Amino acid sequence: MSRDVVVIIGAGGMGLAIGRRLASGRTLLLADRDETALKAAADVLLAQGHEVVTRTVDAADRASVAALATTTVELGRPSHIVHTAGVSPVQADPATILHVDLFGVALFLDAFEPVVGPGSAGLVVASTGGHLGPRMTPEQVREVINTPTDELLALDFLAPSAMRDSARAYSVAKQATLIRVRAAALAWGRRGARINTISPGVVLTPMGSAELAGAWGPDMQKLTDQAPAGRVGTPDDVADAALFLLGDQARFVTGTDLLVDGGSVALWHSLAR
Ligand SMILES: NC(=O)c1ccc[n+]([C@@H]2O[C@H](COP(=O)([O-])OP(=O)(O)OC[C@H]3O[C@@H](n4cnc5c(N)ncnc54)[C@H](O)[C@@H]3O)[C@@H](O)[C@H]2O)c1
Repeated sequence: MSRDVVVIIGAGGMGLAIGRRLASGRTLLLADRDETALKAAADVLLAQGHEVVTRTVDAADRASVAALATTTVELGRPSHIVHTAGVSPVQADPATILHVDLFGVALFLDAFEPVVGPGSAGLVVASTGGHLGPRMTPEQVREVINTPTDELLALDFLAPSAMRDSARAYSVAKQATLIRVRAAALAWGRRGARINTISPGVVLTPMGSAELAGAWGPDMQKLTDQAPAGRVGTPDDVADAALFLLGDQARFVTGTDLLVDGGSVALWHSLAR
């Protein structure tokens, strides 16, 4: 009988927390561009008895992502496919952010849609950043949905040169990701599969810590402190929500986004009024 394969793209804080919850009794395919982090993560999981396969992947490179999809079907049946690879405003310039966080997600959708089947569940980690800032117009939303992946970053409102800084690029990339994944739910549905997004608030992973220590850190800390939960999130907060969206209890849920942010977006909208 074919093994169920859990694919985790981005073996960082959230990717590992989600992967660990899903790995028992399945093959865990861990992918990241950082070979050292990938090996360290795999060693911990292997020592705990999990079956782990690793691949070094550049999530912003079409051939690399396509090769990962091929490896997945060689290993078994893609049961859970999770995309958490990303870079944040303090880590990268606008062009890199748009290439990894938006173009990379579009590549992922292109590569994995043909290999998912009945019962497969996909998840892309977006961000509360996609819920804040100016909204795209209905025409821009249509363009995000319908533009071929290789032409996405040539759209004038998604071009790296149109971004005033990395924070703006991140917010735009994540807003477009929410739209692109929602639209992909139709093609995934025709194959009997579901796909959703999660938008986390500040979560204490290497990325979250770097953001809190950066230029936008004080504002993020203030929003986090004043939000209903009054604390930062943990990778397990995200993993619990991911388990719901990837599991049978969410069998009627596809093409949607779940805010896992302790209420920070609710607070932001109340302040913006
Ligand atoms: N941590 C937060 O506060 C927070 C908040 C909102 C959204 N997010 C989003 O959550 C997702 C997961 O972030 P995290 O907090 O686990 O961060 P993390 O830094 O712990 O993990 C991200 C992983 O992505 C990998 N990666 C980056 N670029 C890559 C590429 N081109 N190819 C392959 N791998 C690549 C990194 O090597 C790293 O292991 C990201 O999409 C991020 O934008 C994070």
